[in-house]
Amino acid sequence: MKKVLFSLLLASASAVAQNTASSKDGSPPLVTFTDQQMRDNMMQQLGIKRMRPGYSGNESDPNHANYDESKANPCPTLPDVLVLKNGKKVSNADDWWNKRRPELVEDIERELYGRLPKNIPKVTWTVKITDKEVVGRTPAVAKQLIGHVDNSEFPLINVDINMMLVVPTNVKGPVPVLMMFGRPSFPAPAQPSPEHMEKLNASFKEMMIKHDPSLKAIFDQYPAYTPVTRLPGPNFFAPATNGESPSTEQLLAAGWGYVTIDPSSIQADNGAGLTRGIIGLVNKGQPRKPEDWGALRAWAWGAARALDYLETDPLVDAKRVGIEGVSRYGKAALVTMAFEPRFAISLIGSSGKGGAALHRRVFGEGVENLSGGFHYWMGGNYMKYGAEEADFGKKTGCDLPVDSHELIALCAPRPTFISYGLPEKGDAKWLDQQGSYMATVAAGAVFKLLGVKDIGVSNDYLTEKMPPYNTDMLTGQLAWRQHDGGHTDWPNMQHFIPWASRVLKYEK
Ligand code: GCU
Repeated sequence: MKKVLFSLLLASASAVAQNTASSKDGSPPLVTFTDQQMRDNMMQQLGIKRMRPGYSGNESDPNHANYDESKANPCPTLPDVLVLKNGKKVSNADDWWNKRRPELVEDIERELYGRLPKNIPKVTWTVKITDKEVVGRTPAVAKQLIGHVDNSEFPLINVDINMMLVVPTNVKGPVPVLMMFGRPSFPAPAQPSPEHMEKLNASFKEMMIKHDPSLKAIFDQYPAYTPVTRLPGPNFFAPATNGESPSTEQLLAAGWGYVTIDPSSIQADNGAGLTRGIIGLVNKGQPRKPEDWGALRAWAWGAARALDYLETDPLVDAKRVGIEGVSRYGKAALVTMAFEPRFAISLIGSSGKGGAALHRRVFGEGVENLSGGFHYWMGGNYMKYGAEEADFGKKTGCDLPVDSHELIALCAPRPTFISYGLPEKGDAKWLDQQGSYMATVAAGAVFKLLGVKDIGVSNDYLTEKMPPYNTDMLTGQLAWRQHDGGHTDWPNMQHFIPWASRVLKYEK
C-alpha cells in the first residue's frame, strides 16, 4: 500500500512539473514541487522507504525529544579528529593540512552539507544606494548592495543577493567587518532638512489633490498637517554605547563595520524552494542529486560572494572579515567559516543540530528532525541517517563518518567563538548546549596542533564539564561562552568584540 501511495505521489509530482514554464534552451521544464514531493523525490533517489519521524519539542507528546543525559550518548566515542582513515595518528600541521583536513572536507560535504557545484555562475555586485548616517553616536556610511548572479544560461530563475554594508567614518580605516546573516536595512536613514521636507510636502499635497480633488477639503480643514513626516535625525545626546546597545551599534562604536546579508535572497528557507534560488539556478530548475548542496551551504556560498565584494571596497579591511549568525544562521555561519578560509573570525550563535551540536547525540533536536522537516538545509545524503527502512538498511546519527567537532576543527586555527544562551531564558534545551560543548572540547585538539590556544581545557569530551553560564572561556582562538540571555548572541556581543579585536590585533 505504502509503495502505491509513494508512486502516486511521484506521479502527481511530475504532473505538477509538466505544467510549469520551460526554458528557451530546450532544457526540461522548471520543476515545481511541494516540500513533501521534494522529500519523496530524494527518498526515492536514495532508496529510502521509510523515515523515522522527527522528535517533538512538546514534552507531553509520545515521541518527545530526549532530555535525559544518561540516554543522550548511544555511541559516545566520536570519530577521532586527529586520526587518518588509514588509522595513522596526525601529529603535525602538515599532515593536518595535506591529509586529514581534506578527508574531513570530503566526508562533511558528501554526508552533511552537500558539495558546491562546479559551474556556479558569476556574481556582479552593484552599490544601489550610499547613505551618510549617524548610528547611536557613530557617524557611518551605509551602502545597499545587490549581487546579481549571471543567469544568462537559465533566465527563468533570477537570483539577486541583497546586503547592506555599514562602516564607521570616525576611524581611519580600512576597518574590520562582521558579516551577519539577517535582514539588511539602513540603520538610520538620513532625513531631508526641514526646508526640503516642506517642499516635499507641498508637492505631495498638490499631487494628491490632483489625483483626488475632494482631498483639498481635508487638507483645508487641517492646514498644519503634513502627510510626510520626518523620522528623528541624529541624536547628539544619544546615550553612550554599552553592552545593552544593539549589536550593530556596539560594533560601529568599537571601530568595526558590519554587513547584513539576506539568506533568503540566496536560497529560500524551505524545501519547495530547492528548484529555485541559487541551487535551482545551477540545476536549471531540476531537483537535487544526493550530493548537491543544501540551503546552509548555499547561504555560506553567498557569504563568500559578499566577501568577494568586500575585498574590492577600500573602506573594508578584507583580511579581518568575520561571519556571524544565530540559530539556523548560526549553523550557516559555522559552515561558512569552515569552508571559506578567507573569513578571519566567527561568532556562532545558538547553532544546535546541524551547527555545533553533535549529530550523534540524542538530546533535544534529532538527526530525524534535520533529515525530516529541515531536510533542505542539508545535502540530500543526510536523509540516509534518518532512514528506518531503506535499500541500505537502517541508519542513525551513529552511522555518520563525521561529526560537528570536525566541522569546528575545519575552522582552526582561525578564531571561532561558540555562543549559547540559557534554556530557562528561551535558548531551548532542544539546541543541546552540552553536545555543542563536547564538540568544542574535541575540536580544540586541532587548534592546539596548529599552535594556538583552544578553550583552555583538555580535549576529553567525555569528562570535561560544561562551565556555569557567564563563564568566559575567551583566552584562545577557540572560545566558548554561554550567556544568561535567550535565543540570541546579543548578550555575548560585548564579550565577542574585545576578544575579536584582540585576537585579530585590531586597534581602532
Ligand atoms: C528550529 C530548528 C533548529 C533551528 C531553529 C531556528 O528550532 O529545530 O535547528 O536552529 O529552528 O533556526 O530558529
